Amino acid sequence: MTDILFVKPVLPRAGALVLPLAEGFVLEGLAKQADEATGGAIARGLEAAGFKGKKGQSATLWAPGGHLSRVVAVGLGATGGGTQAAEAAGGTALPLIASDVEATIAAESLPAPESAAFAAGLRLRAYRFDKYRTKESAEDKPKLTRVTIAVPDVPAAQAAHAPLSAIADGVCLTRDLVSEPPNILYPAEMADRCRALEKLGVSVEVLGPAELEKLGFGALLGVAMGSAREARMVVMQWRGAGDAQPVAFIGKGVTFDTGGISIKPAGGMEDMKFDMAGAGTVIGLMAALAGRRAKVNAVGLVGLVENMPSSTAQRPGDVVTSHSGQTIEIINTDAEGRLVLADVIWYGQHRFKPRFMVNLATLTGAIIVALGHEHAGLFSNDDTLSRQLAEAGKAVGEKLWRMPLDEAYDKGLKSEIADMKNVGGRPGGSITAAQFIQRFVDTKDGHTPWAHLDIAGTAWATKDSAIVPKGATAFGVRLLDRLVADHYEG
Ligand code: BES
Ligand code: MN
Ligand code: ZN
Repeated sequence: MTDILFVKPVLPRAGALVLPLAEGFVLEGLAKQADEATGGAIARGLEAAGFKGKKGQSATLWAPGGHLSRVVAVGLGATGGGTQAAEAAGGTALPLIASDVEATIAAESLPAPESAAFAAGLRLRAYRFDKYRTKESAEDKPKLTRVTIAVPDVPAAQAAHAPLSAIADGVCLTRDLVSEPPNILYPAEMADRCRALEKLGVSVEVLGPAELEKLGFGALLGVAMGSAREARMVVMQWRGAGDAQPVAFIGKGVTFDTGGISIKPAGGMEDMKFDMAGAGTVIGLMAALAGRRAKVNAVGLVGLVENMPSSTAQRPGDVVTSHSGQTIEIINTDAEGRLVLADVIWYGQHRFKPRFMVNLATLTGAIIVALGHEHAGLFSNDDTLSRQLAEAGKAVGEKLWRMPLDEAYDKGLKSEIADMKNVGGRPGGSITAAQFIQRFVDTKDGHTPWAHLDIAGTAWATKDSAIVPKGATAFGVRLLDRLVADHYEG
């Protein structure tokens, strides 16, 4: 899908006509014109299909007359479903029109924010990662190239769509990064791709092993030790609010997680290319914020490593000294994400003194046991930030569920030789991981609101949903963009 154009309503001569319709609809505008031009075939067809305009409902009427290839009706649900319903309807419509070259959306009766949201839904669902498929037949490829959205007020729809388009760009960037195979996307390559944000006005600093060594990033560098691919940390800054205190987002970027010496079983190990999804989300989020010129100062920090077993790899039993000065006894080299985050969080907090820090990580298998693939785990030291995050998640359909933090879980992290172990045992595995990370949120100079999102269950989808095709979801980009828009801008 190339372009989405907003236009004044004109009945199309060819292609698909899409009708977003709410419950209790009456055909108006283009829908009514098309119905009249086909001798009432559309009203009769919708009736025969049992189409009522319900949320998630759709109906396709093939060649209803004239030169239209099809009319696709998609339900908006009860009126007042707002932008979320419109976005979902756009997503639902996309696969039903993808084999047409052109489509016209009859959005004359939608308010501008909803026609813009419908367009964003189309775009989000149309995402494909097909750069490595060289033998796909033309038939199997989507043909849709021209989408026009018929609206009463073109400038209003365009204005509403501009920020959504920037957010969709960010989502697609994240999906691209997370989808890339791990031989192509390793830490240095991922850092290079961050540089692409410079053209949006984001400043990008890349630190390599020598600089990280100098900073004393012993926890992060310990994870990288087994790999021939060098570690990186990338610091991205978007300044949209003068010299206001920034907000900070921190991502786990393990470009491949074999487990290291505590190696993972072979079955399904290929999935661990997605272990950089936290970092990928931070990068896409920075692109979204900069792309829509958000009135906020935002810092994105990502720790990029590959976790490999080799003769130079970190061992169980090793003790590393983190950037914070705290020492860590490595018990399981597969609990590597928290080691990466430990150094980056401490660094981000001390350098930027942010209003809040949110980190994202595909941190534990245990969060999938707890929450499945429907909610990401939310751990936080701050009730206000937690509420804001949970509400933003609800608003964009990226749901969070708050999990406990409690000193009582610290027992398992006690080490005989160092300040802590890197694992706390099987019970409450996601919580002990969060307790570990919290030790790298400094409380000496007062309270910094911090939240950790464990996205291990939500960063990848095995089936399509309205605006998320299966594969990399970019879970968190829209959520955190919304958090900023609702509470930290202007
Ligand atoms: N990247 C994994 C977490 C993960 C596992 C994500 C499965 C998605 C699916 C993480 O680095 C890891 O290996 N965690 C271990 C921690 C354990 C060793 C304490 C886990 O969850 O098994
Ligand atoms: Mn691991
Ligand atoms: Zn991992």
